[in-house]
Amino acid sequence: MLDVTNMSCGYGAVLAVDDVTFQVPDGQMVALLGPNGAGKTSTVMAIAGHVEMFSGSIALGGRDLAGTGPAGRTRAGIGLVPEGRRIFGDLTVAENLLVGSYTRSRAEARDAEADALALFPRLRERYDQRAGSLSGGEQQMLAMARALVSRPSTLLVDELSLGLMPAVVHQCFEALAALKERGVSCLVVEQNTEVALRYADWVCVLAASKLIHSGPAAEVRGNPGFVETLLGLSVDRAGA
Ligand SMILES: Nc1ncnc2c1ncn2[C@@H]1O[C@H](COP(=O)(O)OP(=O)(O)OP(=O)(O)O)[C@@H](O)[C@H]1O
Ligand SMILES: [Mg+2]
Repeated sequence: MLDVTNMSCGYGAVLAVDDVTFQVPDGQMVALLGPNGAGKTSTVMAIAGHVEMFSGSIALGGRDLAGTGPAGRTRAGIGLVPEGRRIFGDLTVAENLLVGSYTRSRAEARDAEADALALFPRLRERYDQRAGSLSGGEQQMLAMARALVSRPSTLLVDELSLGLMPAVVHQCFEALAALKERGVSCLVVEQNTEVALRYADWVCVLAASKLIHSGPAAEVRGNPGFVETLLGLSVDRAGA
């Protein structure tokens, strides 16, 4: 279980996330939604240890992560698929996966890589190919696989669907659903509310640095316009 309690974080004088509390239980998927600039990426990066926390706490499996840097958090079980994917374009698929497994022994890394490639068979076909030459969907799969080879208990995925075709988006969400079955939990930042609601167990909505909604996904599943409603925006979904 990932516990984020009264967490505020930001950049120097900039408060990006203000007093946010939510949990990601084991084997569950939590969708983090909200408009641009709401603080979604800052939340994810604070959990991964890349953005400074001003107050509150972040704990994984009951262990407080304060004072633990990004590498220590990877070892503790946090996996990160960052916004923009950030794969190493000049390295091969194999080399990207090797980078992702640096916290693990060689034997553990080999096992974890086999599992990740079983989840994304396309990457096996592209194993020795330069990552920069992969399609957008393949790059997202590689970013997810690179995070998985560190054997996370909680995976953080920022903007999973951005720029991807619907079929690939579903393939990536199906992979997360398969991971859930193995007890891996997931915090997914999404712009595509509809697809997020289809897969998530719980939904959090951030707006202007504050958590404005936290509840079961089933409650809002039939209502993909609920974020706009919360924000007081009208939305025309005709033909959507
Ligand atoms: N490196 C930074 N330095 C200063 N302020 C930043 C930095 N990164 C983000 N911010 C600010 O923090 C706030 C939250 O940004 P964040 O990137 O977390 O939002 P987001 O919800 O991920 O947005 P998007 O949907 O556009 O990705 C914004 O006001 C943003 O301008
Ligand atoms: Mg973002």
